[in-house]
Amino acid sequence: MPHSVKLEITPEMIKRYNRPGPRYTSYPTVPVWKDGKFTRDYTKSLQKEGQNEQPISLYVHIPFCRQLCTFCGCNKIITKNQNLVEKYLTALEQEIAGVAECLGTPKNLAEIHFGGGTPTFLNPQQLQRVVQMIVSRFDTQEEGEWAFEADPRVTTTEQLEVLYELGFRRVSFGVQDLDQTVQRAINRNQTAEQSWQTLKTARSLSYKSINLDLVYGLPLQTKLGFRKTLEEVNKMRPDRLAVYSFAYLPGMFKTHQRAIREKDLPTPEEKINIYLEAINFFAESGYVMIGMDHFALPEDDLALALKNKTLHRNFMGYTTLHNMTQIGVGVSAISDFGDSYWQNTKEIELYMIEASEKKLNPRKGMKLDKEDQLRREVIETLMCHGEVLLPDFESRYKIDFRHHFSQAWTQLEKFKQEGLVKLSPQKIELTPIGMLFTRNLAMPFDRHLKTQVSPKFSNTV
Ligand SMILES: C[S@@+](CC[C@H](N)C(=O)[O-])C[C@H]1O[C@@H](n2cnc3c(N)ncnc32)[C@H](O)[C@@H]1O
Ligand code: SF4
Repeated sequence: MPHSVKLEITPEMIKRYNRPGPRYTSYPTVPVWKDGKFTRDYTKSLQKEGQNEQPISLYVHIPFCRQLCTFCGCNKIITKNQNLVEKYLTALEQEIAGVAECLGTPKNLAEIHFGGGTPTFLNPQQLQRVVQMIVSRFDTQEEGEWAFEADPRVTTTEQLEVLYELGFRRVSFGVQDLDQTVQRAINRNQTAEQSWQTLKTARSLSYKSINLDLVYGLPLQTKLGFRKTLEEVNKMRPDRLAVYSFAYLPGMFKTHQRAIREKDLPTPEEKINIYLEAINFFAESGYVMIGMDHFALPEDDLALALKNKTLHRNFMGYTTLHNMTQIGVGVSAISDFGDSYWQNTKEIELYMIEASEKKLNPRKGMKLDKEDQLRREVIETLMCHGEVLLPDFESRYKIDFRHHFSQAWTQLEKFKQEGLVKLSPQKIELTPIGMLFTRNLAMPFDRHLKTQVSPKFSNTV
């Protein structure tokens, strides 16, 4: 959706489409993966992966935060306990060593991502320690993409300097909303000054890419109030923006149940209008819309990848890296390579015990058969490019697309009548309104959806 758009979305459409649905950062989605202990399978897969000469991407989960934001859906631990942090880092070191051993000869890392929680919860020495664990076990490329997530409220100049010196060039700061009423409602006091200051420091240190996270649909948020946040954020001119739909999951998160009052949430109509405000605002301000929830300056790699149709989607959202083996370390971390997904335990104590026993033990796993691999690619293509070229899939997967997906096609015909999608023998193409309901349009291709429990997914609007 390159230009500012006026879209006619009726309350009936919202009522019809606003239902629980995945965000498809993976397919099949995590609730479908099997529970178990996967030490043997995971170890074998890593050994096999070791024979592959392609570089890999490493995700490191740092779960700690100083204070709880009540809207948060991430895997985080609120603590001040430095003993716990040190113990966790030791466990991380053991896991990284175990992974590297299974992979065999040191693998090349094309990407390192520190996510959380809040990686800048760690002090400079701890950050250095984590990088040391990695570089002592892996080869790191000069031009590798090193990125981390940071909370402007706790990130110091010294941390930004140390991380830059260590090789990080990309940073993503959480902002969410600058309106104080909204901030009070989510227990996150963050002045615009704090966001400005951290951003300016990162810029003065020459970080080459700065992203800011915003969230729409938060309690007490209004279109007018969010507009002010957008204006302020636009003055900061980050290279990228993530504008996430608030995933409200009272069935999954006790804090959502206890601390977010449902009556404070914008109605689905208000929520979609807030989102439309953001889309139009950023289009007018010269940002390119990337898939469902990202925006980037036209010269940014993500915008170029969109243009060149080389955009991809993984656990961290949209990315320019294609088909790269992704290994996750740390509590709750996810790995994605070959034809499998794996996830570490979400329990920090259990994670630390098993790591200290030198045991790699993902607690969830999923092996994709050919059918799931095909569906994964269709869903990713739809989410990244807003269109699916049928002949492309027909030649590569040896299928008659419309026959193979006859049930999905019947559902798409209904979306077509609503103006959400254009269908031809060659192509499925989302319309600008369809882009707002991308999750709904991907759902017909999900063959596991019927068997899943809905409290695990947020509403699609
Ligand atoms: C790990 S946090 C970012 C780093 C840091 N902890 C911070 O808050 O500044 C990743 C991002 O996920 C988003 N997020 C967290 N919980 C969410 C939810 N329930 N719905 C939508 N987005 C959410 C927020 O935008 C947040 O900045
Ligand atoms: S939004 Fe960030 S700082 Fe707040 S609880 Fe979640 S991970 Fe921690």
